[in-house]
Amino acid sequence: MNEPWTLYWQADRLDSAEANHSADDAAAIQAFWCSLAAALHTGGTVIDLATGNGTVPAALLGENPDLVITGVDKADIDPVRFLSTPGELASVDFRGGTDICSLPFDDGCFDAATSQFGIEYTPLQQTIPEAVRVIVRGGVVQLLMHRASSEIVAPAATRRFEMDALLADDGVLQKLAVFVASDTPADDLEAAGQAHLASEIVRTPGISGQIFEGINQAIQLVTTSNRQGARELCATMQMRLTADRDRLQFLEDCALDKPGFDAVIKLLEANGVSTEAAGELPAGAGAADDFVIGWQYRGRKT
Ligand SMILES: C[S@@+](CC[C@H](N)C(=O)[O-])C[C@H]1O[C@@H](n2cnc3c(N)ncnc32)[C@H](O)[C@@H]1O
Repeated sequence: MNEPWTLYWQADRLDSAEANHSADDAAAIQAFWCSLAAALHTGGTVIDLATGNGTVPAALLGENPDLVITGVDKADIDPVRFLSTPGELASVDFRGGTDICSLPFDDGCFDAATSQFGIEYTPLQQTIPEAVRVIVRGGVVQLLMHRASSEIVAPAATRRFEMDALLADDGVLQKLAVFVASDTPADDLEAAGQAHLASEIVRTPGISGQIFEGINQAIQLVTTSNRQGARELCATMQMRLTADRDRLQFLEDCALDKPGFDAVIKLLEANGVSTEAAGELPAGAGAADDFVIGWQYRGRKT
């Protein structure tokens, strides 16, 4: 599953939250991490699990620039290289290609373990004991996890439906692949395009709009006898859209319902963590009343 994430992080994104959550949501998330950063002493050590391009380290360092942070992720991350403005992330020890099921660190070498929309993607029976193992006694575990039907997960599902339609066997990208592969008329491609535009699914400029723009470019390349260029463009569009669709599917699959969240708390407690706070992190002011950003958790190793 990590190729989609590697592609995603190499595209200059600090954040993973699919919904482009509102400024209010971003402020709520920032406050959640700032509270931890403020509670840690100067030179305190933090391991951020499934760190992506380091959005949690950035939030922590924004509040407490003297923290010593390690960020690990299975994807091929390198935020200082892939972000146009890495800022304070230059001080973070990022370790790409690192599976958090088995952390390459000694017992008790961090003051806190954090994860934002990360640990729930992993086998928790393995990763929770690992997270607890590497923190000191008295150390903090602070997590923000996806909640099913949250402000982030619900719009992600809508976007995935749009991608599924574009990638379907009778969808425009498959018809484009046939069109650019051989000297066939564009009738099927045109029909698929019309069907997509007439369908009930939500279409967005960022997904359908960009794919239709790419299709027009591919047709143009065929018209100017550059069939190879058209094939390459079609293959790139299919590869990128499939990666994006897969990421959204992972997100929906890993989002926790209430029993799932309770099970995480139980697992943490069984591994010697005493719960200090657990529940929903409410969405920002502009959201519907019943929306939340995700599940928040804070506990201390006893
Ligand atoms: C939704 S992103 C979250 C990234 C970051 N924490 C953020 O909030 O922007 C999920 C991340 O989990 C990582 N991941 C999934 N399984 C993993 C594993 N077993 N070990 C380490 N990282 C993993 C993915 O590579 C991806 O970067």
